Formats: sequence, structure tokens, C-alpha cells
Amino acid sequence: MNVSMKGISPFYPGQPVPVDFFVGRQKEIDKIVRAVRQVELGKPQAIFLTGEYGIGKSSLAGFMRFYAEKENHLLGIHVLLGGAVSLEDLAIKTVEAVLKTPAYDPTLIDKVRNVLSKYVGKQELFGVQINLEALKVDGPNISDENALCAKPLPLMLMLCGVEERRREMIQHHQPVERIFDIVEINPMNESEMRDFFNKAFQSQNISVNEEAMHLLCHYSAGFPKIMHIVGDAVFWIDQDGIIDKDDALKGIVLAAEDIGRKFVDQQVLKALRSKDYHSIMEKMGKSPFDLSFQKTALEKGLSDSEKKKCNNFLQRMKKLKVLRSGDVQGEYIFNSRLVRLYILLNAIKKDTPK
Ligand SMILES: Nc1ncnc2c1ncn2[C@@H]1O[C@H](COP(=O)(O)OP(=O)(O)OP(=O)(O)O)[C@@H](O)[C@H]1O
Ligand SMILES: [Mg+2]
Repeated sequence: MNVSMKGISPFYPGQPVPVDFFVGRQKEIDKIVRAVRQVELGKPQAIFLTGEYGIGKSSLAGFMRFYAEKENHLLGIHVLLGGAVSLEDLAIKTVEAVLKTPAYDPTLIDKVRNVLSKYVGKQELFGVQINLEALKVDGPNISDENALCAKPLPLMLMLCGVEERRREMIQHHQPVERIFDIVEINPMNESEMRDFFNKAFQSQNISVNEEAMHLLCHYSAGFPKIMHIVGDAVFWIDQDGIIDKDDALKGIVLAAEDIGRKFVDQQVLKALRSKDYHSIMEKMGKSPFDLSFQKTALEKGLSDSEKKKCNNFLQRMKKLKVLRSGDVQGEYIFNSRLVRLYILLNAIKKDTPK
């Protein structure tokens, strides 16, 4: 297949996945569906969707929003709160989002928009300006103690964030701990990953052979974000509509370089300026382990001055989210197999004479 003949790439690195390519998460979906039904019956619910960066929080929230609109007649509104530092910012962003939301059922959202129209200041080319003063007057009355009302507004609040954010919120306001039901998103299992790659490639009439599928899943290691980056690279490399081992490996190396340049070079190498740190990194990169290693094993290959810095190095790698501690004392584990691969590739490259 010639590149110019290719259809739309079914991969969405950096964007929530479209409903058609959404896979897995059945247990989490069941839990949210239960809450959605309660809201439909009139009981407010609050869910905190948690999981690490790129694990699929926004995607699951988007998928459930679509589902709840279609099946339970709820209105789904997506508010991005990044950059909001005050309650006022939050109020403005929320009203803006309601006004902009494309609705599945326009009659419903039109009623809501009518109610909110009193907060609209002047109309602008790319949207509306919110009348903050009017909002400030009404806001506290509207939001106060909805859950305690005899007939509360059946709102479903679904907040997405890493676990750290949730703990921060609890520190600021203890009741947060019991307000939210927690839904935790974990890495995908092998069959979810297979399902994803099959669905995505099949949509473009591309098949994946067994060896290649194994490699794609192995290097994605359950991280949906990596699945999309690797899948996209492989999609563009493939020439004949069949993903084989060769296509998969080439794509994986490209994806590792892409992630390495963005993450390792920008955030890790820059943060670890010292020469000893860099040489420890190279030695670690070339050691023959998969994801997990013992500190003592790494130390064996280090010089005296590197040995002294090894502890600090490992702590900083943990802080930078490259490594985490294992269950066994002195064990360290790479968070991402692609980052591990990049560090290996870099270390090998330094050895080859130019
Ligand atoms: N269930 C899924 N099926 C297929 N792809 C998914 C799924 N969940 C997430 N993805 C893909 O994984 C990547 C990360 O997803 P998403 O943006 O939803 O994660 P997130 O947890 O919200 O990330 P962040 O912490 O950066 O906000 C995206 O490329 C998305 O398309
Ligand atoms: Mg997100």
C-alpha cells in the first residue's frame, strides 16, 4: 500500500479515543453505569476517575458521556479545568462549556442554555463572554448543598485526575474523601490490547500477524497512550496491508525514539546534568534485564565515583517517573518498556564509531 493511498490513521496519540475504537474497561464501565442509572432516577452521584497520566481517564469519561446521553437521557458536559485557579475560573469555564456543548438531544440543552443566557455578556467571534458579576451573585445559592435538598438536582459529577490530585483535594477539604466514589483505571491486559490493535487495523483493512501482535502488545505493556503511538508508527511503515514482525519492530523503534526525544531528552537528560549520572544511565541501559533490576547488580559495573552517586541517581529517576520501586528491597522497575528501549538504543549508539 502506497503512502498516498492510505486512509485515515485509526490511531489517536494524545487525544481521547473515538467511541468506535474504545476497548476494554468493562468493570469500570459497569460501576459507572450503575451510578448513571441512579442519577437518571434522581439521585446525585459523584465519581473520581483516577489513574496515572495517559492511562485513559478522559477517554473513559468521554465514552461514558456518550453512553449516558444515549441510554439515560443525561446531558454530558466536558469542562477542562487545567489553568483554573479560583472558584470564579471554575464557574466561568463550566458555564462556557455548557453553552458550547454539542448535544445529542438539542431540545434539552436549549432549555439549559436559556436558563444560562442571563450570564452571557457580549457575543464574540469565537464564543461568548461570561458576565462574571451576575454569576457571582447567583453561584453560591445554586451550588449550596444540592445533595441535602429534598428534591436535589440530579447531577452526576465525574472528575478525572491522578491520585495525587485527589489527595490534594482531600487535604484542602476533608469531606471530599467521602463525596466521591473512586473508579481506578489500571493498565490494560493482553486481550484488551489485542482487541484494540485488531479493531484499529481492521478498520483500514490491515491485518496483523501473530508475531507482530505479540511485539506490539509487549512494548505497549498495557499503556493505551503507548498503543496509539506505536500503532500509528506501524500504520505508516506498513506497505502491503499486512503487519509483520519487521513492520512492528521498525514502528516500535520509531516510537521509542519519538517518546525518548520528547520525554527522556527533554525531561530526564536535562535534569541529570552530571557526567556520572549519564554514564550510570548508559550502563543501566545496556544491562541485560527487561524491566526490573537490583541496585546491587547495577552497582557491580560502576566505577567508585559512580557508585557514590548511584543512590541519588536512582532517587532522581524515580522522581522523574522513569523508575519505580519494586516489591523486593533494592529492586527498581522501569515504568515504560519503550523508555527502557530508548535508553538502551542510546547507550548502544554511543558505542558505535561514527
Ligand atoms: N479504552 C481505550 N481504548 C483505546 N484507546 C484508549 C483507551 N483509553 C485511552 N486510549 C488512548 O490512550 C491515550 C491516553 O488516553 P487519555 O487521554 O484518555 O488518558 P488520560 O488518563 O486522560 O491522560 P492524561 O492524564 O494525560 O489526562 C489516548 O491516545 C487515547 O486515545
Ligand atoms: Mg485526560
